[in-house]
Parts: sequence; structure tokens; C-alpha cells
Amino acid sequence: MFHGTTIEDKGFVGLGAVTMDGTYIESEGMVAAGALLSPGKRVLARELWVGRPAKKMRDLTDAALEGMMAGVVGYQQLAVKYLKEFQD
Ligand SMILES: CC(C)(COP(=O)(O)OP(=O)(O)OC[C@H]1O[C@@H](n2cnc3c(N)ncnc32)[C@H](O)[C@@H]1OP(=O)(O)O)[C@@H](O)C(=O)NCCC(=O)NCCS
Repeated sequence: MFHGTTIEDKGFVGLGAVTMDGTYIESEGMVAAGALLSPGKRVLARELWVGRPAKKMRDLTDAALEGMMAGVVGYQQLAVKYLKEFQD
């Protein structure tokens, strides 16, 4: 759930996370599944924030960022596939 949040392109927010007013997620920043990003917090590029309230856990590796982008491509391919199935 996003409320008053800015997310840059390639920012990532995991399943079930809540981001509160004035929060900001930079490109390639990541909020973990289930996290609570409290008001005004800023996730910098390549940072991973985890927990309730969320704190910075560590920086993301190149491999982790590649995995994130592979997931995006996978979802895009599924969207195209499902749209085609609905249209057929
Ligand atoms: C945080 C995350 C990136 C995993 O990071 P990781 O470094 O590989 O974590 P690990 O699985 O090695 O676990 C390391 C520790 O963090 C804990 N942990 C992992 N994910 C966590 C989360 N989301 N919140 C709190 N703690 C978490 C683990 O329990 C473990 O704790 P322990 O050392 O006490 O046993 C991942 O769990 C996550 O949240 N991914 C988002 C997935 C998602 O929402 N995808 C959406 C669909 S694309």
C-alpha cells in the first residue's frame, strides 16, 4: 500500500509492504516484502530496507538488481501472454 509516496522508475516495493506519507524510493532502491516504511524516510539507490518499521539492511549487489529486472521482464511477458489469451 502506497500513501503519499514517490517511487522512481526501477524502484521496487515487495509484497504486502506499506509506505507512508512523504516517503521516497529512488531508482533501484528496494523495500522488502512486509516492510513498513515510516513517514519521510528515503530509500537511496541500491539500498535494501527491511522490517516494521523499515531500516536499511544492506546495499544491493549487481546480481540482485539483475534479478529484479529479470522479474520485471517476466511479468511483462506474462501480461502479453494473458492479453493474447483473452483476445483469442
Ligand atoms: C528481503 C529479501 C530481498 C531477501 O533478502 P535476503 O538477503 O536474500 O534474505 P535471506 O532470505 O537470506 O534472509 C536473511 C534474513 O532476513 C530475514 N528476512 C528475509 N526477508 C525478510 C523480510 N521481507 N522481512 C523481514 N525479514 C526478512 C530472514 O528471515 C533472515 O533472517 P535470519 O538471518 O534471522 O534467519 C526478500 O525476502 C524480499 O522481501 N523480497 C521481496 C519479494 C517480493 O515481494 N516480490 C514481489 C513479487 S516480484
